[in-house]
Amino acid sequence: MSMLLTIDDLKQRARQRVPKMFFDYADSGALTESTYRANEEDFSKIKLRQRVLVDMTNRSLASTMIGEPVSMPVALAPTGSTGMQHADGEMLAAQAAEEFGVPFTLSTMSICSIEDVASVTKKPFWFQLYVMTDKDFVLNLIDRAKAAKCSALVLTLDLQILAQRHKDVRNGLTAPPKMTIPNIIDMAIRPGWCLGMFGTKRRTFRNIVGHAKDVKDLSSLSAWTNEQFDPKLSWKDVEWIKERWGGKLILKGILDKEDAVMAAKSGADAIIVSNHGGRQLDGAPSSISVLEEIADGVGDKIEIHMDGGIRSGQDVLRALCLGAKGVYIGRPFLYGLGAGGKAGVTTALEIIRKELDTTLALCGKRDIREAGKDMLYRPDRPLP
Ligand code: FNR
Repeated sequence: MSMLLTIDDLKQRARQRVPKMFFDYADSGALTESTYRANEEDFSKIKLRQRVLVDMTNRSLASTMIGEPVSMPVALAPTGSTGMQHADGEMLAAQAAEEFGVPFTLSTMSICSIEDVASVTKKPFWFQLYVMTDKDFVLNLIDRAKAAKCSALVLTLDLQILAQRHKDVRNGLTAPPKMTIPNIIDMAIRPGWCLGMFGTKRRTFRNIVGHAKDVKDLSSLSAWTNEQFDPKLSWKDVEWIKERWGGKLILKGILDKEDAVMAAKSGADAIIVSNHGGRQLDGAPSSISVLEEIADGVGDKIEIHMDGGIRSGQDVLRALCLGAKGVYIGRPFLYGLGAGGKAGVTTALEIIRKELDTTLALCGKRDIREAGKDMLYRPDRPLP
């Protein structure tokens, strides 16, 4: 992993190692992918203030997210089908995050189950919930997350219906994947990935198969998933889910100030300013471009997190300066996983940590908790 110096290096390595249909699943957005691109591009518009001749020794990146200590305020985002980037992907990523001292969030749509991840970790992880129309299944998932001692529930609000992703359709990415001749050849020329995948028992969506009514295998799962995301999800559902869960609750997928106000009133512990990594509403603004407005509006009432487009430590700092208490990375850790399993996820986190540390210092600060708007170069605005 030594010459993998940037998240983009990990991405190129993952592209070589992971079959195209699964690599593209991660590296894609909805429809024209304009929001997916904007998430990344808009970060570079935010300029940092260079400061000199200040004491830059003894720096600290340690902070908290929803009251939990973190070695840096960067969590792993929930990502579905992570176990397709690398065999046992969720278990490996959870272990890497645990050793690094940052939160790992397991998706409802994961390959490894809540119980699989709990069996290989010692500290609590976070669980992401999709609300399905089958409420018995949802209640059961919440109870399983509690039994596994997950310390936060991340409730995703921006997937009441599933947006179209053209790359997945073109690649035949269904459950089970279409075994076309190009797909078979593509897998066969990636023996490392294949060996891992055929050497593991965990190749299906284990949170769901065998738990949801009538879902016994991958084929029945496909039909079930297509009709299960609840299009009637409402703020009333947030109430009963909060009550049933009874622990820390994070609302994911807030991109609008009015929704942020509602979220702050809901009694949740944090919101994630997010557009699902550009995978849902194509044409929506980038997460970073709306972060400041939302943080200024409700940041005194609820903890603000964000995700979408973070590809470096500089991006982490930009988001923290604009009001986020913590951020999440999705694709950066998936690229790491595809590139090199657990070691690849650790490399992704190390890259970001090193960049964040250097950037903090060159901005003249020593403690990440001091990140604020005064560290941004904005000649058109008076310093706060
Ligand atoms: C996601 N995301 C996501 N979010 C969620 O709440 N539940 C999920 O199951 C998934 N699945 C998923 C799969 C893949 C392949 C990706 C890339 C993303 C969205 C994710 O949590 C996060 O919002 C974005 O990934 C953040 O953007 P970046 O960091 O990937 O740019």
